[in-house]
Amino acid sequence: DQPGSTEARATPDPGFTRIANQAALPAQFSLPLKFPPVLRPTRTDGTTDYYTVTAREANLTILPGMSTRVFSYEGSFPGPTIEARSGRRVVVTTTNQLPVPTVTHLHGGHTPAESDGYATDLILPVGGWPVAPAHRGHSGHGAVMAGAVTQGTRDYVYPNQQRAATLWYHDHRMDFTGPQVWRGLAGFYIVRDGVDDALPLPDGDRELPLMIMDRSFDANGQFTYPSADPTLHQPGLTVNPNGVQGDVILVNGVPWPFHEVKQAKYRLRLLNASNARRYRVSLSPDPSGGGEPFTQIGSDGGLLAAPQPMSSIYMVPGERFDVIVDFSKYAAGTKVVMTNSLGDGSTKQVMQFRVTGPASDSSQIPAQLSTVERLDPARAVRTRTFNLLSTRRDGKEVHVINDRMFSTDHIMADPRLGTIEIWEFRSSTHHPVHVHLNPFQVIGRGGGLEPEDAGWKDTVRLTPNNTVRVVMRFDDYAGKYMLHCHNLEHEDMAMMANFQVS
Ligand code: C2O
Ligand code: CU
Repeated sequence: DQPGSTEARATPDPGFTRIANQAALPAQFSLPLKFPPVLRPTRTDGTTDYYTVTAREANLTILPGMSTRVFSYEGSFPGPTIEARSGRRVVVTTTNQLPVPTVTHLHGGHTPAESDGYATDLILPVGGWPVAPAHRGHSGHGAVMAGAVTQGTRDYVYPNQQRAATLWYHDHRMDFTGPQVWRGLAGFYIVRDGVDDALPLPDGDRELPLMIMDRSFDANGQFTYPSADPTLHQPGLTVNPNGVQGDVILVNGVPWPFHEVKQAKYRLRLLNASNARRYRVSLSPDPSGGGEPFTQIGSDGGLLAAPQPMSSIYMVPGERFDVIVDFSKYAAGTKVVMTNSLGDGSTKQVMQFRVTGPASDSSQIPAQLSTVERLDPARAVRTRTFNLLSTRRDGKEVHVINDRMFSTDHIMADPRLGTIEIWEFRSSTHHPVHVHLNPFQVIGRGGGLEPEDAGWKDTVRLTPNNTVRVVMRFDDYAGKYMLHCHNLEHEDMAMMANFQVS
């Protein structure tokens, strides 16, 4: 076996949704929600905030009384939150003290190619890495790695020439993104601007970033992660074409937490950071009851033009939804549960809000939130089609785009700077499709647009036997970027492609 294909794997797990050690799991809604620390810049100047981030292993308490070995940023899971200002540069000096290579992608970032976290632009461990960077990876698909590899440390430069929005950063190592994110390499990155700041929306401790993900644990409290490809090692494992799903729901790294809220409006920045799990979340004081109304104000790419009433939100991996929940309509003592109607058993519940009592609340949801420029599809210079196919070939699970497995040297699309294009995604199965570099607008979907399609997006849900059309503009940055399925196991099995902007 090649060292490069085995080192990032946790204890093999024979199943995908089992509770490995039920007794050790906390009761749902028994642990308080936590928030990742906000990272402080090491220095700032007139144009730039400088941060240092070390990726390293850490032992953290996730299940009460147990210690879980995680891959962390700065010893924290989720990683620390980076607060950025639109138009102000952020430089993150990242050091890799993990035992494996890593590369960080800022998801939703409008980022020059050299800092975008291309899948082979690896930071090798400071402690050294014995394997030549060219290898046949995890998926065994034979893509040759030829990235901008650095030893130990490098800078990521984010211009933040973009609207206020909830972004997130995570590992993007070719063939190993699934296991490395599962082990903990994900954090929030929030861009703020004057438009958002000027609105009378809830803020301060009434603005809650909520990173939702599923995990599974073994009897010792360690994350379990099955191999995506049984031909490489664990005989007897079945390949699940839906990716890896766990039976424990974590919010900001806490299993099924509760959070105390006042009778006031709150802004929830929801992120589905799961490897493969889809959720339809709703809120109810009665867990078996229907969804209570709430208001969506933002999407992946920041504020919507106008608030949108919702009673549930369907979130695929990678998507963000900014919503306002008004807890003033509930009596003190009410427990409002966030449920997931796409879950089963333990994954039907996400978290609980406990309404404590009155509070003054001057926040409002303005009828006009922001100006969302409409990209005109009639101005598109061309339409490209991407067919995402999951199938079995020769007994192996295969996930391809336009019948190709990812390779670093094949360019599938070559948009020109200054143009608008329509991209059309098709599949017979479920895939969350993510395009790097530019946000897009969803303009068509078989069966009609869904509420979750509103606003600027960078990740879109593709449902079986459907076609989704998006329009995007290639403004400024040239270079090679990725588009891929954000089901991380599909991504690792090579459901990814390059586009080259010039
Ligand atoms: Cu969130 Cu290319 O990834
Ligand atoms: Cu997929």
